Amino acid sequence: MQIIRSAKDLETFLQQFEEINFVPTMGNLHAGHLSLVSEANRYHGITLVSIFVNPLQFAPNEDLDIYPRTEKQDLKELEKINCDVVFCPKPDFAKGVKKLHANPDLSKKLCGISRPHFFHGIVSILNHFFQLINPKNVFFGLKDYQQYLIVKDFLTKSNLKTNIHGVPIVRESDGLAMSSRNNLLTPDQRLIAAKLSAILRDTAQEAKIKNLEYLRVEGIKKLEEFNFKVDYFSFCNSRTLEEIDEFEANTLLAVAVNLEGVRLIDNFLIQ
Ligand code: PAF
Repeated sequence: MQIIRSAKDLETFLQQFEEINFVPTMGNLHAGHLSLVSEANRYHGITLVSIFVNPLQFAPNEDLDIYPRTEKQDLKELEKINCDVVFCPKPDFAKGVKKLHANPDLSKKLCGISRPHFFHGIVSILNHFFQLINPKNVFFGLKDYQQYLIVKDFLTKSNLKTNIHGVPIVRESDGLAMSSRNNLLTPDQRLIAAKLSAILRDTAQEAKIKNLEYLRVEGIKKLEEFNFKVDYFSFCNSRTLEEIDEFEANTLLAVAVNLEGVRLIDNFLIQ
């Protein structure tokens, strides 16, 4: 497995390959990330993973400084599952990045309400990666469903001929969606965190038969009983993220909460 740290070296290295399957990450890899890499490995060509904690997607008051960084361990995991090349640029990789705007119809909803800078930072850094790598395929986890939709929209409107693949959420045995931020939870908080997916799953099961506003109010109440601060609890159209009042096929139930300073998101696509 090749480990490359500068954009120039990556450019030179990639010249010999036509088809690149790209998995962008911020490191601290877990089974969710590894499922993206396994999916990428199924495609013809080489699998490239980037590890870069992107400062452009954090506001000054957010958790950039404490975001878990575990490069040594990450590289071991990637080697084990036959990743071909890992790009770990230095922090200055984000300097001079062309600042782009994510589609406001998608980016001003859900996570974009409390994190207005977030998706612009993501689209800007990804564009920087994509211009350098020109990937044939890119892979995104569906836990970050809104991110997946926004990147898909960005790619559709760009000149890039890159296909995007959304890969299902990987959950811990108690249902908690895998996330690097789970590592910030204390053992007690970790036990409570499992209630998030349990409450969502129960809510999703009732969405076809009960009033959605009622379920929303009840869902928030249940989460607050466990000390979650609810950022949003939304039933929405899974293509537009427009809030809906009545159940429709492929309704997205999307939630973001804060558990004593740790932000957790999750979603269920209800078919
Ligand atoms: O999902 C993430 O880890 C990040 O948002 C991404 C796509 C690597 C961009 O920094």
